[in-house]
Amino acid sequence: MQTMLVTGGAGFIGSNFVRYVLEQHTDTTVVVYDKLTYAGRMENLVDVAENFAGRYHFMQGDICDAPAVNAALDQFGIDTIVNFAAETHVDRSILDPDAFMRTDVYGTYVLLEAAQKHGGLRYHQVSTDEVYGHIHGDHRSLETDCMAPRSPYAASKAGGDHLVNAYHITYGLPITISRGANNIGPYQYPEKVVPLFVTNALNDMHLPVYGDGGQQRDYQYVQDHCAGIDMVLRRGVIGESYNVGTGKEMTNLRMVEILLDELGKPASLIRHVEDRAGHDRRYCMNVDKLLALGWEPEYTHEEAIRATVRWYVANPWWWEPIRSGEFKEYYQRVYGQRKTLSTPAA
Ligand code: NAD
Ligand code: DAU
Repeated sequence: MQTMLVTGGAGFIGSNFVRYVLEQHTDTTVVVYDKLTYAGRMENLVDVAENFAGRYHFMQGDICDAPAVNAALDQFGIDTIVNFAAETHVDRSILDPDAFMRTDVYGTYVLLEAAQKHGGLRYHQVSTDEVYGHIHGDHRSLETDCMAPRSPYAASKAGGDHLVNAYHITYGLPITISRGANNIGPYQYPEKVVPLFVTNALNDMHLPVYGDGGQQRDYQYVQDHCAGIDMVLRRGVIGESYNVGTGKEMTNLRMVEILLDELGKPASLIRHVEDRAGHDRRYCMNVDKLLALGWEPEYTHEEAIRATVRWYVANPWWWEPIRSGEFKEYYQRVYGQRKTLSTPAA
């Protein structure tokens, strides 16, 4: 039997991971611990609560609140912590980095302290390829590369990773870290590019492509990421980090082309707009270390994008209420004053 605390389990990847683990491992009980920020939504877990009533519990709480974290560990007899909880959107980190420092750095410290004080619980940190910074030439980031984050979000995640490694080296805490690529799939908040563009296009609104759209990302289906994290949890070497991605990259413009094709919408919806400050040009990771554990991604970029588009088309009940709430104000702040580019520069 395993009793897992999944922090941030009401968010996009966390909720997909909870569903994946409960389906795959009948001896695992999951306790979701989530603050329910704008990105954390109980709707993401409705089917989980119905299908896994005996092995699933939910607790609302902040990972920065040490007494509440310790109480959750005691109450449920937790033996494993998987930390997804974070502020996650780069554009929000540029507007207001404060919450990123609190949750992604201090919150990680609180969880590590609690894991340590409870006798050295198994701890897994969900991190990101953004900690490597933007990647030049043909290089693919290796787990041994130095971290070189460039946005407040990426820097806060790198801070978390450093703390996790320090707790292993200093106190022997049994940790692993996974660094995921750009995830797409069901239940992703529509601030991120793929759900933003699908839902804009469904409303016949423009798709605001930053700069020339030649930036490269590894668009990975969320289920492949969840399987990768699960593999690291079960077969990863304690103290090690593992990259999780397809190992390939694609330009944003190519992603938009596929997305519009799946929707049957015209390219005239594309608007090149003023670039993101400090925009990382390219992310791409070498994933050989995870492949060697026996994990393999199932979805190509194109399959992942098309499957994601179909999910949003089929599930307006999920995203329509989001787009009419807090999101409207956010959208105005980020895109309201943004200049349209007539000749997009790289
Ligand atoms: P998300 O923004 O969809 O969800 C984040 C979740 O964390 C939400 O449920 C939110 O309520 C919760 N949360 C935020 N602050 C909290 C706090 N102080 N205490 C408790 N809960 C809190 O994020 P996501 O895209 O699902 O990302 C999950 C994790 O995966 C993050 O750590 C992120 O850095 C990492 N990651 C994301 C991607 C991606 O492409 N989305 C890729 C690689 C790694
Ligand atoms: O790489 C992993 C990271 O992927 C995760 O750690 C982050 O949590 C997640 O948000 C994501 O970061 P990105 O900044 O890469 O994702 P986003 O969806 O915001 O943007 C993807 C690309 O699309 C990026 O090059 C910026 C561009 N973009 C984004 C938005 C929101 C646009 O061109 N227009 C937009 O409106």
